[in-house]
Amino acid sequence: MVPLFPLLLASHVVCAVVSLLLFLIRGIPSLVLERPLPGRFFRVAPHVTDTLLLATGIALAWTLSLDPLQVPWLGVKLLLVVVYIALGILAFRLHGPRRWRLVLFTLALLVFADIVAIAVTRSPLGLGSL
Ligand code: HEM
Repeated sequence: MVPLFPLLLASHVVCAVVSLLLFLIRGIPSLVLERPLPGRFFRVAPHVTDTLLLATGIALAWTLSLDPLQVPWLGVKLLLVVVYIALGILAFRLHGPRRWRLVLFTLALLVFADIVAIAVTRSPLGLGSL
């Protein structure tokens, strides 16, 4: 039998990488190069990947019996996931000036980097602990 935990962890990490790639594929043409958004696939696929990222993350936390209210790095990571999603929605859907949307897109990428740093170091300080 394939052990569940390594499989879940590998799926979670693959979802994280694909999620970042799709975010860049969506954001760079529309916000940086001012070209039209790529086709429908690149608008729908991020929702699928992000749902899988969330589901595998919850499954990992459940498997390890980690409670985000008791484990600071997981609590901070979850909060930052919400911030990352909110910044992404604002960057792509806001009808404001392009430079503001670019700032939101860049902030979302920084938050993503912090989430990965928190996951790898298991410290709520994330990038600050490196
Ligand atoms: C943008 C969203 C996310 C990213 C980029 C991300 C990234 C990662 C990465 C790269 C790892 C592997 C760390 C390592 O093995 O060194 C990891 C592990 C993990 N993640 Fe996430 N994650 C995200 C969302 C979530 C969510 C929403 C949850 C929980 C609800 C979660 C829970 C976990 C857990 C429990 C581990 C395993 C830690 C361990 O092995 O001790 N993640 N994450």
